Amino acid sequence: MKKVVALLTGLTMAMGLVACGNSSTQTAAPAPAAEEAPAAEPAPAEEETEAPDEQAEAPAAESTGNEKLVVGFAQIGQESGWRDAETNDVQWYAARNTDTIELAFADAQQKQENQIKAIRNFIEMDVDVIAFPPVVETGWEAVLTECQEAGIPVILVDRGIDASAGEDLYTTMIASDHVWAGEQAAIVMNDLLGGTGKVVELEGTVGASAAVQRKQGFDDYIANNCPDIEILDSQTGDFTRAMGKEVMESFLKSYSDIDAVFCHNDDMALGAIEAIKEAGLKPGEDIKVVGVDGVKGAFESMLAGEMNCTVECTPILAQQIFDTAAKLKNGETVDKWIMSADGVYTADQVTQEVVDGRQY
Ligand code: AHR
Repeated sequence: MKKVVALLTGLTMAMGLVACGNSSTQTAAPAPAAEEAPAAEPAPAEEETEAPDEQAEAPAAESTGNEKLVVGFAQIGQESGWRDAETNDVQWYAARNTDTIELAFADAQQKQENQIKAIRNFIEMDVDVIAFPPVVETGWEAVLTECQEAGIPVILVDRGIDASAGEDLYTTMIASDHVWAGEQAAIVMNDLLGGTGKVVELEGTVGASAAVQRKQGFDDYIANNCPDIEILDSQTGDFTRAMGKEVMESFLKSYSDIDAVFCHNDDMALGAIEAIKEAGLKPGEDIKVVGVDGVKGAFESMLAGEMNCTVECTPILAQQIFDTAAKLKNGETVDKWIMSADGVYTADQVTQEVVDGRQY
């Protein structure tokens, strides 16, 4: 019998749980109304043929009879609208499937030490599978070794860890290709600028794989293919709208000739747009704006002509997470990297219908 209930109170107190007002385990949480859940709206293009209710059906944990699939999820925090969408999707999916799934959820409030503490609690709880998005790439060896020693498979979600730490430290990763996203952003940027211009870059959280790899993809493409595009400056905005605005304000004070900004996520792009407007310039025209994520706010900005492009990075991962967790519990082998299929959206493709159809 899993020790979920016994240890739940301690975890809740230690972590200051939980985003979205739910308790730290979905077994006690009432299922939200279907219309409140992200997955209740149309699925991303590649999944559009599936009805929402079909998506909400949990995989059966075949080899364990009636025993539920117990998953510990150590979320990073609430830095962006994208992160909230991922949290909502995971909690909603678990709440829709309480007959087969038990979710222990921790909000680490942007701190690696809190994620590590939550993972250690999940080990104590003897959950079936641990899933978490590593806030940064490094520093996971000790706690992941403990997971291994406890025989608990680990799913990395939406971000990776430093490869030199050893790929055998985790079981699989369910995530987008962040290098690809950076490259796609650079390709669109080159088009927007007609091959010539000065760009500033708003980076995500220092040391996060999503930031490191998006930067690598963007900077390498520009360096190798765009001799007349100069990256004037590149600084972290920590994936938040507030810091995106603040750093863009400082770029605008330092440089009078910025043609474009590449933002590692849409929240920072939305903050940068505010800063550009407050400086008396027109975002999307005077300064081109390219982001990553594909959140609804970015689509609204593209429709308003204030943003030029977003490269999608889907946060709708719950079904894959629980499906994969069930397979791991059943002793099945899964791919080392389960890659999301994402799209690239430019402003000319965006209509009100497209905005309304966005799932997150
Ligand atoms: O790891 C995914 C990134 O984390 C998203 O792009 C960003 O919005 C989030 O905070």
